[in-house]
Amino acid sequence: MPAQIIHGKEIAEAIRAELKTEVVRLATKGVVPGLGVILVGADPASTSYVTAKEKTCAELGMFSDDNRLPAETSQADLLALVQRMNEDPKIHGILVQLPLPKHIDEAAVLLAIDPDKDVDGFHPVNVGKMVVGEKAYLPCTPHGVIQMLLRSGVETAGAHVVVVGRSNIVGKPVANMLIQKQTGGNATVTVCHTRTKDLAHHVRQADIIIAAAGRPNTITADMVKPGAVVIDVGVNRIEDASKKSGFRLVGDVDFDAVAQVASKITPVPGGVGPMTITMLMWNTVESAKRTLGEA
Ligand SMILES: NC(=O)c1ccc[n+]([C@@H]2O[C@H](COP(=O)([O-])OP(=O)(O)OC[C@H]3O[C@@H](n4cnc5c(N)ncnc54)[C@H](OP(=O)(O)O)[C@@H]3O)[C@@H](O)[C@H]2O)c1
Repeated sequence: MPAQIIHGKEIAEAIRAELKTEVVRLATKGVVPGLGVILVGADPASTSYVTAKEKTCAELGMFSDDNRLPAETSQADLLALVQRMNEDPKIHGILVQLPLPKHIDEAAVLLAIDPDKDVDGFHPVNVGKMVVGEKAYLPCTPHGVIQMLLRSGVETAGAHVVVVGRSNIVGKPVANMLIQKQTGGNATVTVCHTRTKDLAHHVRQADIIIAAAGRPNTITADMVKPGAVVIDVGVNRIEDASKKSGFRLVGDVDFDAVAQVASKITPVPGGVGPMTITMLMWNTVESAKRTLGEA
């Protein structure tokens, strides 16, 4: 029987509805969650991400302080803007869109963000808190994956999860969240990467597969145990002459074939993608609640 599709778009919409209710409630207490957005340069992909984030803020009744800076902005000017946002009580979360131009030290900029406003969850303070199981802003894409599992009734406790990819923004944090002693965790986790010997052997053991390699067809049907749950984080552009743009988006999983073996699977697009911005809004609302001593 073909796998049930886990629709990230629907789960994201449900979470956004919950956040909207929270925003209305916070407004009665005089707090409007605010996101400071910084984009340096005009990279088309980054510009469209930032526009989507600003649009979502508006849809949820949140405030966004949008700053689009020229590509030649100096590191000192960028750090000064981050500092201004750190001190601005109307701003509860700061988002610096990555990647930054080559002349700017990305790590220095991320370190300059007040950890209490680090809604991307990339500051080492928040990464460290997440690892030791303290309350922290969780990075958005991995947190989105955990919410998708929870909200589609996938039990992680005792499950063997194989994560393919070990980046700081997806693979490592999702593996860490899954081993935490809490709901949405308690899994046994294997993390694979390009030095893994016999990837297929490891993936075949998985009850849950999380593919975050950034390479189409990394996970094929012969690598999937019947009934496994497959979460595809990958977003890859492949040429497609039938499309006006000349390309289409695919994940890391051979979707059509794997859907015949798996019990549940996420599509690309419409799977993990819509969750990422939603979880950024979640963190910003959490930060606003903290200012009232609520979170
Ligand atoms: N949906 C979303 O919102 C969202 C958000 C973030 C990322 N993404 C997508 O998720 C994918 C991963 O992103 P990322 O930033 O984590 O990418 P990344 O920094 O390029 O990391 C990819 C990871 O996958 C591993 N890998 C690559 N090919 C592999 C293979 N054939 N076998 C085993 N491991 C392999 C790499 O191993 P090594 O460490 O050994 O090189 C690396 O750890 C990309 O397609 C990206 O576009 C989607």
